[in-house]
Amino acid sequence: MTQHKHQPLKVDIDMLKRYDKPGPRYTSYPTAPQFTSEFGATQFREEIERTNRLENPADLSLYFHLPFCDTLCYFCGCTMLITRNRERIEEYVQYLIKEIELVGSMIKGGRKVAQLHWGGGTPTYLEPDQIRRLFDAIRSNFEFHGDAEIGVEIDPRGMTDGHLDALRDVGFNRASMGVQDFVDKVQEAVNRIQSEELTRWAFDGLRERGIESINLDLIYGLPYQTEESFPYTLERIIDISPDRLAVFNYAHVPWMKKHQQVIKEETLPGAEEKLKILKYTIERLTSGDYVYIGMDHFAKPDDSLTEAYFNKQLYRNFQGYSTKAGCDLYALGMSSISQLNEVYAQSVKELPEYYSAVGAGELPTERGYRLNRDDHIRRHVITRLMCDFELSKSDVEAKFDLAFDTYFADALRPLEPLVLDRLVELQDDKIFVTEMGHLLIRNVAMAFDSHLSKMQSEGTPMFSKTV
Ligand SMILES: C[S@@+](CC[C@H](N)C(=O)[O-])C[C@H]1O[C@@H](n2cnc3c(N)ncnc32)[C@H](O)[C@@H]1O
Ligand code: SF4
Repeated sequence: MTQHKHQPLKVDIDMLKRYDKPGPRYTSYPTAPQFTSEFGATQFREEIERTNRLENPADLSLYFHLPFCDTLCYFCGCTMLITRNRERIEEYVQYLIKEIELVGSMIKGGRKVAQLHWGGGTPTYLEPDQIRRLFDAIRSNFEFHGDAEIGVEIDPRGMTDGHLDALRDVGFNRASMGVQDFVDKVQEAVNRIQSEELTRWAFDGLRERGIESINLDLIYGLPYQTEESFPYTLERIIDISPDRLAVFNYAHVPWMKKHQQVIKEETLPGAEEKLKILKYTIERLTSGDYVYIGMDHFAKPDDSLTEAYFNKQLYRNFQGYSTKAGCDLYALGMSSISQLNEVYAQSVKELPEYYSAVGAGELPTERGYRLNRDDHIRRHVITRLMCDFELSKSDVEAKFDLAFDTYFADALRPLEPLVLDRLVELQDDKIFVTEMGHLLIRNVAMAFDSHLSKMQSEGTPMFSKTV
C-alpha cells in the first residue's frame, strides 16, 4: 500500500480541512518550547565531554547559521537580520570562526563530519572571500568523511559567478535555493523580486559546477496566490527540473514575527483556496517526475532522499528530512540548535550576547533540554512515523522493554478519529499511515506528544497550522 513511484496521489480537500489545526513540525521532540534555561553552557559542555568518552561516539553533522539578508521578505519566518553593513557581517564571520575553534577543540575521539549545512538568513550574502575563509576554518578544525553531504542555502539575488566558484571550490555538493513564487503580483506583495531568468542562471551555474543535488523552495498560501496562479509557477519549476522540491505552507504567525503584519489578511488566500493549491501541487508533481516524501518534500525517483525513503532510512532533524541518521548535530552561530542523543542546546539569539560568550571562550548556550526515558520513547515513535509512515509496535516493545498498547493508551485514543477517517490503519503489529495520512502526518505525531496538551491548555498559539 505504500505509494508507488509513478502512482499519482489523490487529495481529499474536506479531509484536509477537518484536520487543519496548529501543530509542531517535529524537527525535534520534545519541541523547542520545552527547552529551559536550567540547561546551559555548563551542562552542554559536560555532555560533549561525556560523548567523547563513549566507545563508539557518533559521526558529526554540522550546522552553521548565517543570519544576514539584504532585504526583508515580508513572509519570512526564519531567524534573520537585515543589513547592508558589510562590517557587521565580517564581525559575525570572525566570531563564528572563534566558535568553530572552540567547538572543534572540545569534540574528541576522532569523529568525522558526515553532513554539513549552511542555513540562514542567506549564507550566499557573504562575499566569496568570506565563504572561503569560513570553510577553511571548518576544515582546519574538523575532519570530513570522503562522501560527506555538504549543503548550502542560496538566494540568487545578489549572487555572482565568484560566489558560485567559491561554493564549488570549498566543496559544497548540494544546494537549496529559495524561489517561493514566480508571479509578479505575488513577488511585489511579499517584497521579493526574483526573476525566473535569475533563478535559472543560478541553477545552471550550480549544475555546471557539478553540484549533485539541487532543491528549490516554494511557498503556498502567500498573498494573491490562487488556484489559477500557482500552476504557472509550478510548470516553470518542473521545467527547471530540480532534484528536490520543498513546497512549504506559509506559516503566518504575525504575533511572533511582527514584520508579517505588513501582509494584510485580506490579501491571503482563504483556507479552501490554499487547500486547492496544495491538492493541485501534490497531484501535479506525483503524476509527473516526483515522489511525495512527506510533509512538504518531493524528490526525483533517483535522488538519495527518495532512496532513503523507500529503504526506510530517512531521518528528521532541525533541517527537515535527512538521509544521515545517528549523527550528533552541532549547530554553530546565533540562535542555532544542537541535537545530541541525550540533549538539545540552543544558542543565544542576540548578537552582543553571542559575541560576549564566544569572545570569552565559552559556549553561547542559552537554553536546552535533557531527554528523559519517556521523551526517548516518544521521540523514536514520532521520528519513525514521520519518516517511515509506519511503525512496528513489537520493535518499540523490544527496544524499550514496554507493552506498547498499555504505554501508549493515551495516544491510541486521539488516534481513533484518524483511524475512522482512514488516515491511519491499525494492523496487528503495525500502525500504518495511509497515503492521505502522509499529508497529515503532523496530526498523527501529535497524538504521541505528551507535552502538547499542557502547552495547549496554557493557551498561547505557538505553532502554525498543519496544512
Ligand atoms: C532561510 S530561507 C532560504 C535561503 C534564502 N534566505 C532565501 O530565502 O532564498 C529558507 C526557506 O524558508 C521558507 N520560509 C521562510 N519563511 C517562511 C514562512 N513564514 N512560512 C513558510 N516557509 C517559509 C522559504 O521557502 C525559504 O526559501
Ligand atoms: S526568506 Fe530568505 S532572503 Fe527572505 S528574509 Fe527570509 S531568510 Fe532572508
